[in-house]
Amino acid sequence: MTKNINDLMQAGRVHRTVYTDEKIFAIEQQKVFGETWVYLAHASEIKEPNSFVARKMGLRSVIVTRDKEQKIHVLLNRCTHRGATVCREKKGDKTPFFTCPYHGWTFRNTGECAAIPHDDAYGADFDKSSFNLKRIPYVSEYRGFIFATLNPVKGKKGIKDHLKSAADRIDEWIDHNGGEHKAIRISGAQQFTVHANWKCLYDNAGDGYHPEFSHQSLLQMTQQRYGSGMDLDYFSGGIDSTPMYSQDLGNGHTFLDQRPCMYEASAFDRQRPQPGREAIVEQLTAEVGEDKARDYFEMATGAGMNLNIFPNLLFIGNQLQVITPLSVGLSDMTWYSTTIDNVPAAVNTLRLRTQEDFTAFGEPDDTANFEACFKGMQEREIDWIDISRHLETGVDTTDENGIVTSVISSDIHMRAYYAEWKKLMQSDDQSLLG
Ligand code: FES
Ligand SMILES: [Fe+2]
Repeated sequence: MTKNINDLMQAGRVHRTVYTDEKIFAIEQQKVFGETWVYLAHASEIKEPNSFVARKMGLRSVIVTRDKEQKIHVLLNRCTHRGATVCREKKGDKTPFFTCPYHGWTFRNTGECAAIPHDDAYGADFDKSSFNLKRIPYVSEYRGFIFATLNPVKGKKGIKDHLKSAADRIDEWIDHNGGEHKAIRISGAQQFTVHANWKCLYDNAGDGYHPEFSHQSLLQMTQQRYGSGMDLDYFSGGIDSTPMYSQDLGNGHTFLDQRPCMYEASAFDRQRPQPGREAIVEQLTAEVGEDKARDYFEMATGAGMNLNIFPNLLFIGNQLQVITPLSVGLSDMTWYSTTIDNVPAAVNTLRLRTQEDFTAFGEPDDTANFEACFKGMQEREIDWIDISRHLETGVDTTDENGIVTSVISSDIHMRAYYAEWKKLMQSDDQSLLG
């Protein structure tokens, strides 16, 4: 099947079966969601020793734990006895042990098998340690973002090597959020189940072409009620002549920068009305003075960055979106909101109002399109998905670090991630469980 991938990916187009074929989906679970770095959790979610979150690494259920020595482990959430799910909670703290509900086998949060009830019934050579929970062997953190892989080649190089220039963009995102990565905290999530292949979601992550059309009702409503110069209106008409741009950062990571328009003047002033905004503005200005309050207001507004870390982590404004495949035609999309420690509480209140805005008014448009695309991809008579926009217009430039910059409506984001996807799907790397 992987040999055929060359036939399924051609210049400017991708075969529909890349999205719809169960066999390709199964290979992706090994080659993409096993053998490249996959984002799992943010350090603030397991801040305390003996805390954990349950996550997915592709289809694999894993537990991300912080042990009492502060070390992070990623354990397969699969009992080594008969296979039952060991941990059935989404998150927790004060949890040095996990006990499987089926027969009571107990494991430390390091994965070590700690106790087996009535173990005198096993043979003389029975070795409890051979029943430790299996681990994802390579876990690496970049400024609070925790990734894991089964791939020893990538694993030994660490996450920074994989992120390449995307690491600089993560730094910029942290700078927008106060500059101290340990002060950024995940503060809840909105979860959507989407009837589409996971790549339909990733396709949209760097798509600057669609907002004018997909989010038309939001743009029109904003324009009619609040006039021009408001949120996202710079996507209306002639977007490729704006200073916004799209980039291929290497290794499948892409970037779409709205900041040149959104932050041309005050991004905060562009926001649609938010509940409680006026009172917060008044209160914060009185508390810290006008200049400092202005800084806080901009920090409470979206970062204006769409940074996409292949295959599953998207930075959208101040939020993180994580894409998790559930089956070939079903995906989980979770939006994590973020807050900042060490700022007045009102700043975070305002941040959360901003983060509710697009997920409520814009995301339903996108989700409807992901599902509509996936439905259309089932049509056997039409083979191809087009990704050729700006492939031949000569607008791309490449800098000394290999970053390719294109105009905002380019399909460069899809061509970039598909080049990485193809490389992974055809790689000979072997995964390893710890
Ligand atoms: S399946 Fe977990 S203890 Fe038996
Ligand atoms: Fe959108």
